[in-house]
Amino acid sequence: MKLVILGATGSIGESAFRVWEEHRERIQVEGLVAHRQGERLWRMGKAMGASWVALTEVEAAERLRAETSGVAGPAIVAGYEAMLEALDAAPATHLLAAMSGFAGLRPTLIGLKRGMRVMLANKETMVAAGDLVRRTAEAHGAEIVPVDSEHSAIFQCMALPQPVRRIILTCSGGPFRETSLEAMRSVTVEDALRHPNWSMGPKITVDSATLMNKGLEVIEAHQLFQVPYDAIDVVIHPGSVVHSMVEFQDGATLAQCGHPDMRVPIAVALAWPERWPLDVPGFEWAGRTLEFFEPDVVRFPLLRVAREAGRAGGLYPAVLNAANEVAVEAFLARRIPFLRIAEIVEGVLNAFSPEGTLEELEQVLETDAWARRQAAKAIAAPAD
Ligand SMILES: NC(=O)c1ccc[n+]([C@@H]2O[C@H](COP(=O)([O-])OP(=O)(O)OC[C@H]3O[C@@H](n4cnc5c(N)ncnc54)[C@H](OP(=O)(O)O)[C@@H]3O)[C@@H](O)[C@H]2O)c1
Repeated sequence: MKLVILGATGSIGESAFRVWEEHRERIQVEGLVAHRQGERLWRMGKAMGASWVALTEVEAAERLRAETSGVAGPAIVAGYEAMLEALDAAPATHLLAAMSGFAGLRPTLIGLKRGMRVMLANKETMVAAGDLVRRTAEAHGAEIVPVDSEHSAIFQCMALPQPVRRIILTCSGGPFRETSLEAMRSVTVEDALRHPNWSMGPKITVDSATLMNKGLEVIEAHQLFQVPYDAIDVVIHPGSVVHSMVEFQDGATLAQCGHPDMRVPIAVALAWPERWPLDVPGFEWAGRTLEFFEPDVVRFPLLRVAREAGRAGGLYPAVLNAANEVAVEAFLARRIPFLRIAEIVEGVLNAFSPEGTLEELEQVLETDAWARRQAAKAIAAPAD
């Protein structure tokens, strides 16, 4: 197989590198994409024998070109549009879509149009433009195999086409699972970045703290598995042992369990329907207890807000996603307090009045840009 990785320098990219280390004889790396971490990307590209590496920030790419001038290694592609062209020309069979945020949409569509197996970690793409992504996959006979651990779990449980009654998404509850609403008013960026079980990039870690991550995953599950929203439940499961479950029409429930290690869903997506061995341990089950609780949508309103946006459909999920990306960035830059994230997202959604429901790329891009401007205005406005 020939692989391109979007978001190679991130947390998923790092896990993919470790899978490649164990299975280098099976995976030929065509290209690696990142935003601005040139040195790291170059080191990975050389180690993996990539034909090219792309940095979407042009200045970072030019710096890397200057630093590596005369050194043997991958070709360097500079800028977002040039990255799209390189991807379009790449003889790749597999695309690991693991760049963070909405920027992952256009390369994902290119991968699908080229008939690659898209291994989808980048949930923002499926949330913002799920209909378009699915239609594109269908039109080009391309596969989408989820990498998000919950969706990988569901995908594995649904290996046989059997009638599903319900999907149960599990959720660790994040770092503020037991924090009072009062105390949540003054939590810091460092507090929010302290995820109890998973080590991930900053954006998804903040989303896990607001539970927006689970809200995005509800929409992602609806899009990927075409199950109605009423049949997608969320339970808090602090141990992160069960990665999600599927209940079938006969009342039987299948669950997928494992240590919180993204190498597993990445390897599943690469190898499916096979499974490759990995240096990941199983569990000692004796003495282990599994706990499940109802989520608290009062302290974590974004779970409700995301569900509402998903049900509204059309371009609402694109608005939800864009407003959230901007609000999370502002929180990480210490420009707004933690609880303001949800207020901004809900405010932007309330201000949205769609002119149509047709979801073409142009409309999604315009809607995304509109929601970003609205969110930026709300962030700049003095708090009430
Ligand atoms: N981490 C997890 O365990 C996990 C689990 C499930 C799903 N996901 C999803 O996977 C995606 C990546 O998450 P992550 O935790 O790996 O994020 P991360 O550690 O923050 O890494 C993000 C990666 O995307 C690149 N990137 C960001 N913006 C870009 C742009 N405009 N153009 C090109 N590259 C860009 C970054 O490049 P630079 O390093 O150069 O900035 C980096 O390689 C997200 O959508 C997340 O929701 C992650």
